[in-house]
Amino acid sequence: MKKVGFTETILRDANQSLVATRLPYEKFEGILETMDKAGFYSVECWGGATFDVCLRFLNEDPWERLRKIRARMPNTKLQMLLRGQNILGYKHYSDDVVRRFVRAAVKNGIDIIRIFDALNDLDNLKVAIEETVASGAMASGAISYTTSPVHTLDKYVAMVKEMKQMGVGSICIKDMAGILSPQAAYDLVSAIKDAVDLPLVMHTHCTTGLAFMTYLKAIEAGADVIDTAISPFSGGTSQPATETLNYSLRELGYDTGLDEAVLYQMADYFKPIRAEYLADGTLNPISMATDTQCLNYQIPGGMLSNLLSQLKMMNALDKFDEALLETPRVRKDMGYPPLVTPTSQLVGTQAVQNVLAGERYKNVGAEMKAYCRGEYGKTPAPIDPEVKAKILGDEQPIQGRYAATLPADTFEKAQAQLGADARCEEDVLSYIAFPQVAESFFEKRREAEEKKVRYSIQEI
Ligand code: CO
Repeated sequence: MKKVGFTETILRDANQSLVATRLPYEKFEGILETMDKAGFYSVECWGGATFDVCLRFLNEDPWERLRKIRARMPNTKLQMLLRGQNILGYKHYSDDVVRRFVRAAVKNGIDIIRIFDALNDLDNLKVAIEETVASGAMASGAISYTTSPVHTLDKYVAMVKEMKQMGVGSICIKDMAGILSPQAAYDLVSAIKDAVDLPLVMHTHCTTGLAFMTYLKAIEAGADVIDTAISPFSGGTSQPATETLNYSLRELGYDTGLDEAVLYQMADYFKPIRAEYLADGTLNPISMATDTQCLNYQIPGGMLSNLLSQLKMMNALDKFDEALLETPRVRKDMGYPPLVTPTSQLVGTQAVQNVLAGERYKNVGAEMKAYCRGEYGKTPAPIDPEVKAKILGDEQPIQGRYAATLPADTFEKAQAQLGADARCEEDVLSYIAFPQVAESFFEKRREAEEKKVRYSIQEI
């Protein structure tokens, strides 16, 4: 019987896609020991936006969250999402920081690190993959899936072969926008499975309504693992439902390894949490809907709502259609980057700027300039030379890897800046990733402890 593994995303991607990552640890603590018995291939529980949101909005130490999950789920592989050389932030970090971050994640309990780059530039994955393998965890090399004249099957296959050379233990097709169609999935999975002998993981979102069909065709072509979310946090901008896929794949004769009774317990646990988030507005019903616009414009759902809110702020909602048409043109000028953090923000903001100014590339932000200098890595196709010249003027693009030009003592400097607040290596890494956010978190932590001391003195 052919096996299909399941990666449960409720704690990370489903949480991030539907409720802006606002699930605090206390909300899911009570189900972790049950979840540990479900038989998942892995549970995605850390990385992506969880790190930032823990510190910024939930007053939680993300490292402590990871250790607590680890302690309650000793039998399940814990997985995180890492943005390659960007680790969990939005800019590139030095190799030393990437290595330390990966080592700390593994030390605190991570088994599998899914590593991607917004440009699919393998130079941005290399260090993270190397360090993951050296730390004894599994590196899962992800393709940021997109469509364009330069994103051919051959290119993807070449990328996968190189990732295998780098030491990845599995390949992931990461379709962040939910635009991977059943036929395209079948073709891509077949081509990858022909080229390399590695487990293949499928990741998509229900945004456009394709996901269930896409998974089925991918599995028929040989995919080994699928990413799903327990039903109360499935659908819309999240993953398809775990129970539904378990049910239908079993009927089709696949061994999913899952315990159905445990899945129902999990669903019962998360139902009231979903109701609560719907009632207080954290869960917007719009994100539960099927949105086929992404198929027409090839623009991820999250980007559409960003475009809308940027135009609204500028009092220029009448320019929406124009901005929508301008977005693919900017993407083409920029060498067809996949639209995922941070390139989706870069392209979207530039499209809005072009439309508002009435002249293309008249106003260009610092990040877009950095992109044109090559600080985000190699673009899939060359940047349009005229556009590049207009943006950069006399400035010269960088040579080689941007990370190699960064100072190698970032960690030591950050440690010195933090002083007594740097209680462990993890604190310093939090600070490097999100300086202001981490600083105010440390301050709150200090205040809470001082309060505790005062109370215990009173008790005596
Ligand atoms: Co995703």
